[in-house]
Amino acid sequence: MSSGILSGKKGIIFGALDPQSIAWKVAEKCVSEGAKITLTNAPVALRMGQLQKLGENLGAEVIAADATNLEDLENLFAKSQQILDGQIDFLLHSIGMSLNVRKGKSYTDLNYDWMQKTLDISAISFHKVMQTAKKMDVMAEGGSIVALTYIAAQRVFPDYSEMAEAKALLESFGRSFGYHFGVNKKVRVNTISQSPTKTTAGSGVKGFDEFFEYAEKMSPLGNASAESCADFTVMMFSDYTKMITMQNLFHDGGFSNMGLNPVVLK
Ligand SMILES: NC(=O)c1ccc[n+]([C@@H]2O[C@H](COP(=O)([O-])OP(=O)(O)OC[C@H]3O[C@@H](n4cnc5c(N)ncnc54)[C@H](O)[C@@H]3O)[C@@H](O)[C@H]2O)c1
Repeated sequence: MSSGILSGKKGIIFGALDPQSIAWKVAEKCVSEGAKITLTNAPVALRMGQLQKLGENLGAEVIAADATNLEDLENLFAKSQQILDGQIDFLLHSIGMSLNVRKGKSYTDLNYDWMQKTLDISAISFHKVMQTAKKMDVMAEGGSIVALTYIAAQRVFPDYSEMAEAKALLESFGRSFGYHFGVNKKVRVNTISQSPTKTTAGSGVKGFDEFFEYAEKMSPLGNASAESCADFTVMMFSDYTKMITMQNLFHDGGFSNMGLNPVVLK
């Protein structure tokens, strides 16, 4: 069901990899709500070929960009403005990857070169996206920028490892850049802290299935799905949220405010 709340808006969606990706659902929802978008992902992700299919289905151009590479970002923004014919109303940063987690290194035995890469891909890329967009004056007045994050930025979830620090940094970049974009062009910057979701990035975390079940029981509303995350993200891109900025918004079925749910003890 669509109400056209993004009608006339133009956006760029980072991070759709396959149909499980949260960004995939957001892209579909944005277009069904009337937006025109471009899709982007790292060159290596494009080789899998799935994103091109999404692009064809949505009538959206796919532009390769490594989000840690400034030249790629400049090219992405220039091309997107050309294709969409003007400034951009919304951006989704849906990017995360930990080299140490992927390579099975424990939190007390981290490889620091890999950690630098993790922070660059998962957090500093958000600053790079915003700084490049600001320098090129890409964002339209009153636009909206969202990045996806996880509650391990505030609480300890041991198997999330160095991604906890990456998410804390990401959320801080959202707040700090939110100030600069707000005074500059009334552009909002927020992070959405999403429930565990069965995607490629999510399932890469050790013990993910058990943890998914735990969070499902702990949350009064259950885990928020990727589809409902897409609904919320679309609302954050719409004109109904013009005064929300510099926030970390929990989209987690209530998990973040629970202490104990008796169901978990049964
Ligand atoms: N799945 C979960 O449980 C969960 C929960 C909370 C937050 N998140 C966050 O949601 C976001 C999306 O993850 P997802 O769960 O949809 O998984 P996903 O694996 O589908 O998406 C991660 C994306 O990051 C992209 N990426 C990696 N390196 C990149 C680079 N250098 N340049 C550009 N793109 C790059 C990947 O290609 C992929 O498309 C991430 O920030 C993730 O941390 C996920």
